[in-house]
Amino acid sequence: MRRTRRASHTAPATGSLLPMEDRVQLAEGAVVLRGFAADRAPGLLARVREIAATAPFRHLETPGGYRMSVAMTNCGRAGWVSDRRGYRYEMLDPLSGRPWPPMPEEFMDLAARAANEAGLGGFDPDVCLINRYEPGARLSLHQDRDERQLGAPIVSVSLGLPATFLWGGLRRSDRPRRIVLSSGDVVVWGGPSRLVYHGVAPLAEGMHELTGRCRINLTFRQAF
Ligand code: SIN
Ligand code: FE2
Repeated sequence: MRRTRRASHTAPATGSLLPMEDRVQLAEGAVVLRGFAADRAPGLLARVREIAATAPFRHLETPGGYRMSVAMTNCGRAGWVSDRRGYRYEMLDPLSGRPWPPMPEEFMDLAARAANEAGLGGFDPDVCLINRYEPGARLSLHQDRDERQLGAPIVSVSLGLPATFLWGGLRRSDRPRRIVLSSGDVVVWGGPSRLVYHGVAPLAEGMHELTGRCRINLTFRQAF
């Protein structure tokens, strides 16, 4: 992906490669980078398949006893899990009792470049939650707050079928904005937006050339 540099009032990092029209500012510290990961998508998905061969996708149970419609797995230093005892990071995959697969180099590289592009440089993620949405799967409004490093941003990469991302505010009751995320789009939120409520509307039926009948989301965080 080769792109020319243009002036921007959204204050990207110096050396930004993304044209203005491909940046959607959601709030202070929060931006959608349209197509930022598009040319890397096939490679990222190949890594997801390898990770899932070791740490399979599974539907976690919420603390309230519901089965999540989104299937999840993880790579990196620890994995985000949920069960009757609550939400937390676990160093070992509860299914295998073994460490989660390591974070691939290209994941780290993409996440760091996206954060930098968003003007939130120095991002060094140690965990990556991998979400798989099939038609009908959804994620209700929530904050990402199980990480110790709330100063570090979240980098969220969309692959495959499009989804409607719900972008709320700092209060659960804030009415969310609806933003369609397509394959290759990356959302970065940090700073004053780090604890914004967000979610995903039920995935629509469809087929995508890279993923088939699903959407894959990679969520990078600095948890420790
Ligand atoms: C998440 O909030 O963990 C995932 C968001 C998404 O799938 O876009
Ligand atoms: Fe989240």
